Amino acid sequence: MSILWSMLLFQALNLFAQQPGKTDAIYSGLSWYDQNGNVVSAHGGNIIKEGSRYYLFGESHSDTSNAFEGFNCYSSQDLYNWKFESVALPKQLNGKLGPNRVGERVKVMKNPSSGLFVMLMHVDTLGYKDQFVGYATSKNITGPYLFNGPLLFKGKAIKKWDMGTFQDDDGKGYLLTHGGIIYRLSDDYQSASELLNQNISTGFESPTLFKRSGIYYFIGSHLSSWEKNDNYYYTSSSLSGPWKFGGILAPKGKLTWNSQSTFVLEIPGKSDTTYMFMGDRWSYPKQHSAASYVWQPISFAADSISISTFLQAWKINQVSGKATVKALDYQMLLSNNKLLKYAGRWVDTTINESPVMRSIDSKSSLSVEFIGTQIGIYGLTLPDNGYARVSVSNKSGKILVNTLVDFYSKTPASQLIFLSPILKKSSYKLRLEVTGERPNWSDKKKTVYGSTANNISLSKIIIK
Ligand code: GAL
Repeated sequence: MSILWSMLLFQALNLFAQQPGKTDAIYSGLSWYDQNGNVVSAHGGNIIKEGSRYYLFGESHSDTSNAFEGFNCYSSQDLYNWKFESVALPKQLNGKLGPNRVGERVKVMKNPSSGLFVMLMHVDTLGYKDQFVGYATSKNITGPYLFNGPLLFKGKAIKKWDMGTFQDDDGKGYLLTHGGIIYRLSDDYQSASELLNQNISTGFESPTLFKRSGIYYFIGSHLSSWEKNDNYYYTSSSLSGPWKFGGILAPKGKLTWNSQSTFVLEIPGKSDTTYMFMGDRWSYPKQHSAASYVWQPISFAADSISISTFLQAWKINQVSGKATVKALDYQMLLSNNKLLKYAGRWVDTTINESPVMRSIDSKSSLSVEFIGTQIGIYGLTLPDNGYARVSVSNKSGKILVNTLVDFYSKTPASQLIFLSPILKKSSYKLRLEVTGERPNWSDKKKTVYGSTANNISLSKIIIK
C-alpha cells in the first residue's frame, strides 16, 4: 500500500473512531449526543423534512437559568444520529428575545408559496408576564432566522403562551395555542388570518395537532409547569370542531411516560406510516444536561390513539415507514454486582419490588471498568431522587462523555436513564457521582414542584 493510501485509510478509520455521538435507534428519556459529542439541546421543538434529511428545531437551554439561549437546529437522516447545524435563531443583543427573556416552543414550517422557512415561537419575560406568539423567517432551513416580533391577528399581537403549529396536506398553516385555540395563518404564514377554533379545554398546554385519514388529533397537557402529567386529546373531522374528548394518551399515572407533548411527526413509507409522538422530559433547573426527549410511535384503533407501552428502544425503517422494537441485548450487572465499586454510603434495598442500590449521602459515588463498546444505567426514578454526574473515560483517562442524569420522577418508574454513544471496542471506566442537587422549582403562583431530596437509586448497569 502506498503511503498516501495508508494515510487515507488511517484518516478514514480515525473518522469512524471519532463519531462521538454514534447511536443505532431511538432511545427515549436519556441524553443524546451530536457529532461533536455534545448533548443534543432542542426542546419544545418540531421536525421538518427537507430532501432526504430531517431537521430538528428546539430550545437551547442552560443549566443555570431559564433565560432564552437561542433555538438550535440539528439534522439527521435516520432520526437517531443528530448533527448540530446551527443556532438557527440566536439570543438577540436586545429586545423581546434579548438577554433575560423567555423563548419557547419553537416550530418551523416551510411556506409553500414563498419557499421561505417560517419559525413561530412563544416569547415572554422571565416571570411569564409579557407573552405573545412571535415569528422569524429565513431563506435557508438552518438559518440565520430574522426575528420579526409578534405575529399579528387583526393588527394585534396574540397574547398566548404555549403554542404549536400544524401544516395541512393542502399547504395551509395553522397556529395552535393553549386552551385548544386554532388560527389559520395567512398564505405567507406571517400573520394569522382567521380564528378557526375557540377554547376547548382549560389548561391544554403544549398544543400538538396531527391528521390521519381525515381525522384531526389534538393533544395537550394539564397546567403543571415543568412537571409531567397525563396528556389527553380530542378528535374532530374539522379543525373548527366540534371536538370529541378521546381520553389520555398513556396509561393513567404514567404521566405520558414522563413527558409533555410538543409535536407529532408523520413518517410515511412504502407500506406503513408511523406517527411519532415527541414529548419533552423536562428537568428543571438542569435543562441543558438532563432534560431529554420521549419519542414513541402512536397506536391507532378506530379514531382513538394511545401509547400504551413504553418502547425503551425502537427503530424506524425510512423506506417502509415501519416502526420496530429494538431488543436491548446487553450484558446486565445488577446493582449489587461485585464489579460495581461503590464509595460513600449506599444501601442495598428493595423499593416497589425493584432491587436497588440507594445512595444516602450526597457525596456517594460508583465506578465500573469494562471492555466493550457501550454502557448504560437503569435507575428507579423516585419523587425524592436527584441528579448524578455520569462520565465515561478511556484508558488514558480522557473523558469522552460527561453529563448529568436525573433520577427524579413524580411517580416511581424503572427505566434506562443513561446510555453512552457507541464507542470503538476498548476498555473504559464509567463513573457516577451523586451531586447533592435535585430538580426543584416553583411556578408563577409560587406552587413548589419537583423532588424532595437528592438520592440516587440504581437498578442495573448494562454493557455491550
Ligand atoms: C409549561 C410549558 C412550558 C414552560 C413551562 C414553564 O407548562 O408547557 O413550555 O412554559 O410551563 O413553567
